[in-house]
Amino acid sequence: MSINAQFPKWRSRRLRRTNAIRRLVSETQISVNDFVAPLFVREDIKEPQQISSLPGVYQHTLESLKLEVDSLRKLGIPGVILFGIPKSKDEFGSGAWDPDGIVQLALKDLKENFGDDMTLIADLCVDEYTNHGHCGVLSPDGTVDNDATLEIYNQIALAQADAGADICAPSGMMDGQVSSIRNALDSSSHTQTIILAYSAKYASSLYGPFRDAVDVIIKDGGDRRGYQQDYANLREALTEIKADISEGADIVMVKPALSYLDVIAKARAEVEVPIAAYHVSGEYSMVKAAEANGWLDGESVMMEHLLSIKRAGADIILTYAAKQAAEILQD
Ligand code: PBG
Repeated sequence: MSINAQFPKWRSRRLRRTNAIRRLVSETQISVNDFVAPLFVREDIKEPQQISSLPGVYQHTLESLKLEVDSLRKLGIPGVILFGIPKSKDEFGSGAWDPDGIVQLALKDLKENFGDDMTLIADLCVDEYTNHGHCGVLSPDGTVDNDATLEIYNQIALAQADAGADICAPSGMMDGQVSSIRNALDSSSHTQTIILAYSAKYASSLYGPFRDAVDVIIKDGGDRRGYQQDYANLREALTEIKADISEGADIVMVKPALSYLDVIAKARAEVEVPIAAYHVSGEYSMVKAAEANGWLDGESVMMEHLLSIKRAGADIILTYAAKQAAEILQD
């Protein structure tokens, strides 16, 4: 029996014949409106410093940060997320809420220069500011003290909102961090400050290049498995996401992105709020390294990855490739 007799009508290749037809039937589009660019600003430098494990990404001075944000704005990118590298670190991470801390200075400067044309997101955590590298305050036994850390997060939220952050993004995976920050913001008239919660943040080895970028080494060879999620768990991610929404998160995030597309897809099916996904440092660097070796077409792999994150259900993609992808999409 011929194939025609078996399947007289159906021909999927008809819809793939020309580029114009493929565009007509395409289910997912990616645009510059989906991107947030992560940016690093460092206190004690005079010139921007290239981060060797994150090709194309820099530790910025306040001045070079402003130029970078201006070029992202001109490309149409609607948001940036800021990470600070302070001159000195201490036990509590006090640079994170110092009104003259590097991120607060950057927020003020960017708000003055760009107003509401650029959404300013502040990563809210202490790991870049603590001398032990953990995301919170340590108890005498060396574990992170959840509730003492919440007190500190509240102060950081206020310092960031005062400095001009449109969005606070708590990334420390402390229990109750969203309701704690929401209360702090609301009781000091920052009722319009958005919370983007790193809700399902996994203890991943893909954050390595980021830790180079922010000079973080976790004390005594430690890790974050006591507070970040076990990557074996999917249902737990939904529990985290729903808890954050009930605590007042406006946007929830899954992180990393590519190894966790199932988590993004399940979240998209079960919750209504906007979902962000963090295409993290290691995911970016792997493509750059393979490209540098001539093993892959870096640009097309990067676009395939970003589109896959969107197809899985993310509305917002935090990616180090934001600028490059925006330039590709412009052509
Ligand atoms: C914590 C934080 C981390 C990242 C974003 N926020 C590091 C960590 O949890 O160890 C990682 C981002 C990336 O790898 O690109 N402040």
